[in-house]
Amino acid sequence: MKTILITGGAGFIGSHVVRLFVNKYPDYQIVNLDKLTYAGNLANLKDIEGKPNYEFVKGDLVDGGLILKLFEEKQFDGIIHLAAESHVDRSISNPTEFVFTNVIGTVNLLNAAKNIWKDNIEDKLFYHISTDEVYGSLGLEGMFTEETAYDPHSPYSASKASSDHFVRAYHDTFGLPALVSNCSNNYGSFQFPEKLIPLFINNIKNNKPLPVYGKGENVRDWLWVEDHARAIDVIFHRGIAGETYNVGGHNEWKNIDLIRLMCQVMDRKLGRETGTSEKLITFVKDRAGHDLRYAIDSGKLQKELGWEPSLQFEEGLEKTIDWYLANEDWLANVTSGDYQKYYEEQYTKR
Ligand code: NAD
Ligand code: TYD
Repeated sequence: MKTILITGGAGFIGSHVVRLFVNKYPDYQIVNLDKLTYAGNLANLKDIEGKPNYEFVKGDLVDGGLILKLFEEKQFDGIIHLAAESHVDRSISNPTEFVFTNVIGTVNLLNAAKNIWKDNIEDKLFYHISTDEVYGSLGLEGMFTEETAYDPHSPYSASKASSDHFVRAYHDTFGLPALVSNCSNNYGSFQFPEKLIPLFINNIKNNKPLPVYGKGENVRDWLWVEDHARAIDVIFHRGIAGETYNVGGHNEWKNIDLIRLMCQVMDRKLGRETGTSEKLITFVKDRAGHDLRYAIDSGKLQKELGWEPSLQFEEGLEKTIDWYLANEDWLANVTSGDYQKYYEEQYTKR
């Protein structure tokens, strides 16, 4: 019997990780700690909320006292740390929130693990989930490896880079058994519709403009979220403390090509004439500090731990679009209230 803390389990990736662990490991007690910000939604976990090996705790990582108390009470064997402020555009409008949650929140967790585990670190693991955005921006050639030097450009990636450095510093200085993985852009069900794919699915459905930043020439490497959750499972169980693992889909898309593909698929699914949704494409002012290209070399994870993506992108995109079209209530629920205000602030002045 192990007790595992998963932070940010009510968010997009976290909910997939919680679901996988609760279903796959009935012997583990899974504790999901989440503040339930705008991005956290317990409806993402409805199917497993009644399971005996699952518990939800509402709490803010920035509250160091609360975190320590929780560690004292639960005596966690392992931690999978996903909670974060995660949206680049929000980090440009409000960087400070990113420092509180992503940096201070992570340090609070590290302190609690260090103090509670002390010398009793056998079989313990602090697993920190990070992003490829810490490596900065690529030109048209090359890929990020685990050795690529950090060069973050947005307040989001700067805060994630800082938290990664703290995790490695606690490993090197205090001997905390810790590791980091850096993943490329995820897509799939339960992603908040502020990120490109769910935002554009929602806008196409509602015949709203599709705000493409700059010329749409930026490139992202897309990975299906359930493949990321599988990678997290593999790394948590077989990864080596002190190591870093890159996770990616080997699936690069220029934004404008991806958006055109989404328009075609949505035209078909919505019974619209081909070309209808593409007319919604609207080029708007570029994002400040917009990284040109991300591409991940996940060869180490594939060779050493045997993980690889399971889905072709076209299939994953179809599944994702089907999910959003079939889950209108979920979408309506998360886009009510504050979402409208965010959308207006973000897009009306561009
Ligand atoms: P998300 O924004 O969907 O979810 C974040 C979750 O963290 C939410 O449930 C939110 O309520 C919770 N949270 C935020 N602040 C908190 C606080 N102070 N205390 C406790 N809980 C708090 O994010 P996501 O897209 O699921 O990303 C999860 C992790 O994976 C993040 O660390 C992110 O940096 C990383 N990541 C994301 C992607 C991606 O494409 N989404 C890619 C690589 C890495
Ligand atoms: P996003 O989903 O925000 O992920 P990230 O910035 O973390 O990679 O954006 C993916 C790409 O899509 C990125 O190059 C910015 C671009 N984008 C738009 O062109 N318009 C939009 O409205 C959004 C949200 C993103």
